[in-house]
Amino acid sequence: MADTQADNEKEEILRGNAFTRPKGVHDILPDTHEYFTFIKKVVRHRARQSGFRRISTPIFEFTDVFARGIGADTDIVSKEMYTFQDRKGRSLTLKPEGTAGTVRAYIQHNMQTLAQPVELYYIEPHFRYDRPQKGRFRQFWQYGFEVIGESDPALDAQLIYLAQNITEDLGVAGLFKLQINSIGCMDKECRPRFMTDLKNFYFGKERSLCADCTGRAQTNPLRLLDCKVEDCRILAQLGPKMKDYLCEECREFHKQLLDFLKELGIEYVENPSLVRGLDYYTKTVFEFWDRETGAQNAICGGGRYDGLIELMGGPPTPAVGFAAGIERIVDNMKREHIRVPKKDDLHVFVGQLGYEAKKKCLTLMTKLREAGIKTIGALGKDSIKAQLRHADRFQVPYTILIGITEVRDKTAIIRDMKRGNQNIVPYGKVVEEMKKLLGADRLDTYSPGEVLY
Ligand code: HAM
Repeated sequence: MADTQADNEKEEILRGNAFTRPKGVHDILPDTHEYFTFIKKVVRHRARQSGFRRISTPIFEFTDVFARGIGADTDIVSKEMYTFQDRKGRSLTLKPEGTAGTVRAYIQHNMQTLAQPVELYYIEPHFRYDRPQKGRFRQFWQYGFEVIGESDPALDAQLIYLAQNITEDLGVAGLFKLQINSIGCMDKECRPRFMTDLKNFYFGKERSLCADCTGRAQTNPLRLLDCKVEDCRILAQLGPKMKDYLCEECREFHKQLLDFLKELGIEYVENPSLVRGLDYYTKTVFEFWDRETGAQNAICGGGRYDGLIELMGGPPTPAVGFAAGIERIVDNMKREHIRVPKKDDLHVFVGQLGYEAKKKCLTLMTKLREAGIKTIGALGKDSIKAQLRHADRFQVPYTILIGITEVRDKTAIIRDMKRGNQNIVPYGKVVEEMKKLLGADRLDTYSPGEVLY
């Protein structure tokens, strides 16, 4: 997907095409949609199994939802948001992530009055003005899970298990390894003491930092710990470590979480420099990193955010969640040559000759489809040669033909395209005959269930 986008853009510009997609966004073409559909099915199935219910928040929110929720000094808020004014001059932003909007909805709909924790999941597009590169888009899809209203390390462990379980279902779990850390709480004895020592440690060393980190030293010193630039990394290794500052409660919480992960058989790496790029986290933070390339292509990240609901105007409410990038997962599935069930293959092509035959085919096609037989025709083409050429492109196993003779005799020809033989069947028996030829297993008889009045 991503590899070819730059090439396509160049090619289109060379060809002088006026309309190309904006940089950093991509079309999800039918072959890739098969992966998206499969991933969504897996996510929905695992969500149902664990009692999560689906939520969709708007594609845009008031800018403050994200600026306050994610933190004004984060890269996302300071550099990556798509912010615009509506016609009344109100500042709106396309959602760069799903947690802040979900929390806004939790508060606005009084979900604290429901049985706690409230367990929600989403599968949505998100928008970040990121520097486009492999696996990094300006519009990308995430599935995410949020557990709001209860605090226990067992919940964090269960959620991490769910994240891993989904990647196992998708066949890519082996490529990733869980990185985990605790960044403590806002209690005076915990993170604030660490931040003071961290700032003191960097005081006078600003010239050894990269340009980004020089700014971060003032605004968001925690992010100094996960810079990928060599000099910054060396300094971070020499500096204070959060685990030495955790208060009693945070230390015990983290210890139990690691114990529960062992109980669930989840392999992890304790990573003291994992801090995440969003300000709302407390205690647990985690990411699933590519075993070869590390943090750059994390497919999934999350953690606990016990202060966010209160920060956004709700009652003090603990919460934990994660989100995973669907494009990155698809890329990995393709890289591993993982194939997904292909449901778009067609069963029958219906060809017709003459106006009366076209009428017969029109109803026949609806009946075939109702019976679960995936059917196409070329009703807009009159010549039989053009129709068969069209049929060839779809590689259908059967073709049904109705011409002037068949209309007169009330029959249809069913041709087996592989064997090359054909049968004349009474028009009224075509659907039954096709069902027999295909076999019940191959019919597409999906039903969403019936509406109730
Ligand atoms: P995040 O780490 O910013 O966390 O994003 C989660 C995942 O979304 C990443 O691991 C990555 O796979 C994917 N992703 C992020 N940015 C891009 C991009 N520009 N292009 C393609 N994929 C991307 C969050 O968004 C938090 N809301 C997760 C969370 C939920 N924490 C608690 N609850």
